[in-house]
Amino acid sequence: MAEDRVPAGSPTEPAGLFRDAMSALASGVAVVTARRADGLPAGLLATSIAAYSAAPPSIMVSVAHASRSHAVLVEHAGLFGVHLLARNQEETARVFASRSDDKYAELDWEWDHEVPRLAGAVSYLRCARSAVFDHYDHSVLIGDVLDGHHEGGEPLLWVRRRMDWRLSPEG
Ligand SMILES: Cc1cc2nc3c(=O)[nH]c(=O)nc-3n(C[C@H](O)[C@H](O)[C@H](O)COP(=O)(O)O)c2cc1C
Repeated sequence: MAEDRVPAGSPTEPAGLFRDAMSALASGVAVVTARRADGLPAGLLATSIAAYSAAPPSIMVSVAHASRSHAVLVEHAGLFGVHLLARNQEETARVFASRSDDKYAELDWEWDHEVPRLAGAVSYLRCARSAVFDHYDHSVLIGDVLDGHHEGGEPLLWVRRRMDWRLSPEG
């Protein structure tokens, strides 16, 4: 075998290496929501989310073409909501990571200027889509922060392929 070829699934093969390396990248757990063309609420769980710029305040999120939320977020809705989930919202995270047709059935939520706003998140940002970068099988969505609230409290964290972590600062 040539030295630059390694078996698929090996920790040194790029895809395996990527998965292992990214498991060490701790992130918040976000639910991104928007209104569908038929007026119903849509949304998905996303950990590929980050601050894009502080001025203007804007966030970025990577959305897979394969998700049903993709067309809603990238083509239809000009506004979307970003919820950084609280530590006790693991079940909400699982619902939004699923392909359920009624993710909102058991939730406390309301419309906020055409954006579905979930109760109980650590932070909620209502954003206006300002740019989309399309590459491979994902789109990077940029949203300018319009409004929202920061309740505080302990956030849900995704690291080492788990989200049942508890922050325990020293002292
Ligand atoms: C921990 C975790 C993180 C995820 N992060 C993302 C992400 O950043 N972007 C994305 O498009 N999908 C992500 N997903 C997958 C979507 O949540 C999932 O495909 C969902 O079913 C899409 O729902 P929809 O088809 O109703 O839009 C993630 C899933 C999990 C479990």
